[in-house]
Amino acid sequence: MLFSLSFVSALFLGASAVYTPRDTAATRACLAIRVLLGPTIVETSGPEYDATAHGTWSLFNSIEQPTCIVYPRTAAHVQTAMRRIFKAEANYAVQSGAHSAMVGWNSITDGVLISTAHMKNVSYSLATDTITVQPGVHWAEIMDAVEPFGVAAIGGRASDIGTGILIGGGISFVSPLYGWSADSIKEMDVVLVNGRLVTATVNNQYSDLFKALKGGANRFGIVTRYELYSAHTGTKNDKNWYGGIINYSGAHSVAVATASANYIRDVVDPKAALIVLMNTVDTSAADANIIYLFYKGTSLPPSIFGEFLAIPSTSQTLSPLSYFEISNLIPGNGRGFGQQFGSSSLIGDNAHFQDAYSHLVNFTSSFPGQLAGAYLIISPVPKTQFDVSQARGGNAMGDVNVNYASLNYNLIYPEGVTTIPANVNTGFKLLLSQVPRTPGLPLYVNECDVSQNVFSTYTGTAYATLKNTYNKYDPSRFNVRHTVGPIGL
Ligand SMILES: Cc1cc2nc3c(=O)[nH]c(=O)nc-3n(C[C@H](O)[C@H](O)[C@H](O)COP(=O)(O)OP(=O)(O)OC[C@H]3O[C@@H](n4cnc5c(N)ncnc54)[C@H](O)[C@@H]3O)c2cc1C
Ligand SMILES: *[C@@H]1O[C@H](CO)[C@@H](O)[C@H](O)[C@H]1NC(C)=O
Ligand SMILES: *[C@@H]1O[C@H](CO)[C@@H](O)[C@H](O)[C@H]1NC(C)=O
Ligand SMILES: *[C@@H]1O[C@H](CO)[C@@H](O)[C@H](O)[C@H]1NC(C)=O
Repeated sequence: MLFSLSFVSALFLGASAVYTPRDTAATRACLAIRVLLGPTIVETSGPEYDATAHGTWSLFNSIEQPTCIVYPRTAAHVQTAMRRIFKAEANYAVQSGAHSAMVGWNSITDGVLISTAHMKNVSYSLATDTITVQPGVHWAEIMDAVEPFGVAAIGGRASDIGTGILIGGGISFVSPLYGWSADSIKEMDVVLVNGRLVTATVNNQYSDLFKALKGGANRFGIVTRYELYSAHTGTKNDKNWYGGIINYSGAHSVAVATASANYIRDVVDPKAALIVLMNTVDTSAADANIIYLFYKGTSLPPSIFGEFLAIPSTSQTLSPLSYFEISNLIPGNGRGFGQQFGSSSLIGDNAHFQDAYSHLVNFTSSFPGQLAGAYLIISPVPKTQFDVSQARGGNAMGDVNVNYASLNYNLIYPEGVTTIPANVNTGFKLLLSQVPRTPGLPLYVNECDVSQNVFSTYTGTAYATLKNTYNKYDPSRFNVRHTVGPIGL
């Protein structure tokens, strides 16, 4: 052994008084990385370790106990960590904003967790009109830093989300105008599984990797720097949008689902933005249905939003808003509950949307007391969103030439529930099978269930291309064997 037993105990002292490390791949990797990077960067206990390991958005991921957490400050630190993880054949996970609902995708037990929490630089270059971010920033922090310049980076709708959204796709309120969040990536620095650092762009020798990382999620390497095209959305004082929030009681769920179906099919104006959240746990609640709706202009055009505006609401808060204000309306930072996502993608007649809703109602009512929240969340993905992708060289999802809805089922489990109950999980699988995607439409990997083979839904030759690219950059399939993430590669 390279390390003495006293060194092993020194490393783990404090993690737990009775903890004796086993000689596992993860302990070997942690020891080696700690020798190279030091105890400030490689932690096995303490307040920061606890905040990272036990502070994930979904409670299901916050019960993991990483063997060590590596907090790189530079890409070189990530390279050192990956080289040692690779050599030791250790399991590992990467965590940025910690918002994954998928169990095991952003933390790990008996493995190395790489947290980007100390890589938080954000800068805007007037010369290139691009925003450069390190992976540890949350969307609100990016917005705060660049808003004075009148620009924004395209992320999500909830401001607490981290940069992991970029490599899964990313739907923001302005995606109809500016594309998937991933489409705004101009350049990425990526540490491959063997520790090699490369810069990928749309037209350099790593252009295949560049495309794969725009939807390939955590399978293709660790991104240490994103250079993003900016969107000229204005400062926080430029109230060039109009809109807000409308609540409807459960009595109007059918009308809300119908209005959503019509909107998805008909609205082609990229200045329109919408998200619909339908909660089926208490359908008598005054806000059982919540919609966020915006238009880049001074009012909500009735030709676009008239059907929603005509449904009797319990409350409406509509006003002129800047994009900066819109991007801070949904914090999404609540913690302490187990979460589960599931994805479908839909176009079609109103009956399909009614089914997507009524199957959730049946599912929810079948497990009384076992769910604190059960949402059907409807996000429009208009054709214009993929037009931007194509203009930027395409992303991993392929090309879709129609307006569709990305559906996200979000289950929130009651406080104290630390694993997904088997009976609910079985029911959820049934629900997902009852609401199949419209053939040809991709599922959304950032909002899927762990059981869904999202990559296989990427359109045309996109799935085959993704698999080829994966085999090229990770020929020993190290990531798939040692990291939990999307299936199908
Ligand atoms: C409240 C809430 C609201 C949401 N709203 C939206 C929305 O409006 N639009 C939308 O599109 N999505 C939304 N999502 C989904 C969101 O896109 C995903 O949860 C996303 O993966 C979160 O990224 P993260 O960095 O916060 O999370 P993490 O869990 O830290 O990371 C997500 C995944 O990416 C991997 N990863 C992170 N950083 C890197 C890196 N640098 N290199 C390699 N792999 C990395 C992680 O290992 C993990 O598998 C929402 C989620 C939540 C919980
Ligand atoms: C990040 O910002 C800090 C402080 O401004 C600076 O010292 C460091 O060089 C920056 N790192 C990168 C990679 O830009
Ligand atoms: C409407 O929704 C918003 C956002 O969830 C909430 O703050 C508000 O209290 C709701 N109003 C009613 C009457 O339910
Ligand atoms: C309702 O959900 C339950 C629980 O998953 C399931 O057993 C039942 O078949 C569902 N009914 C319908 C009509 O889908």
